[in-house]
Amino acid sequence: MTSYFITATDTDAGKTYVACALIRALVQSSNKVAVYKPISAGCELEDGVLVNEDAKLLSLEANCQQTTSNINPIAFAEPIAPHIAANKTQQYISLSQIGENFKQVQNLKADINIVEGAGGWRLPIGNGDYLSDFVKQAKLKVILVVNMKLGCLNHAVLTYESIINDGLNCIAWVANCPAQMPYLADNINELKSLLPIPQLAILPNTSDLDIAASQFNLSVL
Ligand SMILES: Nc1ncnc2c1ncn2[C@@H]1O[C@H](COP(=O)(O)OP(=O)(O)OP(=O)(O)O)[C@@H](O)[C@H]1O
Ligand SMILES: [Mg+2]
Repeated sequence: MTSYFITATDTDAGKTYVACALIRALVQSSNKVAVYKPISAGCELEDGVLVNEDAKLLSLEANCQQTTSNINPIAFAEPIAPHIAANKTQQYISLSQIGENFKQVQNLKADINIVEGAGGWRLPIGNGDYLSDFVKQAKLKVILVVNMKLGCLNHAVLTYESIINDGLNCIAWVANCPAQMPYLADNINELKSLLPIPQLAILPNTSDLDIAASQFNLSVL
């Protein structure tokens, strides 16, 4: 069983999109895939349960019949920084709870677990802890999604350095291209030389997830 943590240069960079396309490619290659979204903020109440859109999208691609609370056990209604959302509702986010919840996903014994982060790499969860501390404890392999837009070279290198300085293995990066970027090819080439890791995919702007799924070089994993 291998577990990958999907992080990105920022919030809204395409973590869920990339995760869903990657899961589709992995399932098409006959893998059993489970998903985990440790924390979400921005949820709707459905039958008394807070349900997050990312968790729903991930569950549509995964093939382990997981419940919503198995996929995303820590969920807050307001779309704000999760530990601030926790404070506002007299709760706190516990690092050990995030680890325990992940064990419930590991118990499904999938071939591959895909874990989607929240925000960027250094997401505070309160009490001086970060979501990256969970990734360290669980020793997950990290995949970095770069949202190809002006400023992404700086964000990509800073994020990569942070992951490496945390002693983790950042195994690959994805160039996600949802918007038109002048000199896109030059920027992708620049990142190829700045990031000493393989490129897992270049994803164009498309709402067709089959097209996105077909872009992955799964031999990198
Ligand atoms: N390559 C792409 N082509 C088309 N749409 C895309 C692409 N990448 C991302 N999007 C869209 O951009 C929006 C933001 O992407 P996404 O939700 O995956 O970001 P995220 O990093 O998961 O955000 P969050 O931090 O909220 O979890 C979504 O509506 C998504 O469908
Ligand atoms: Mg997301």
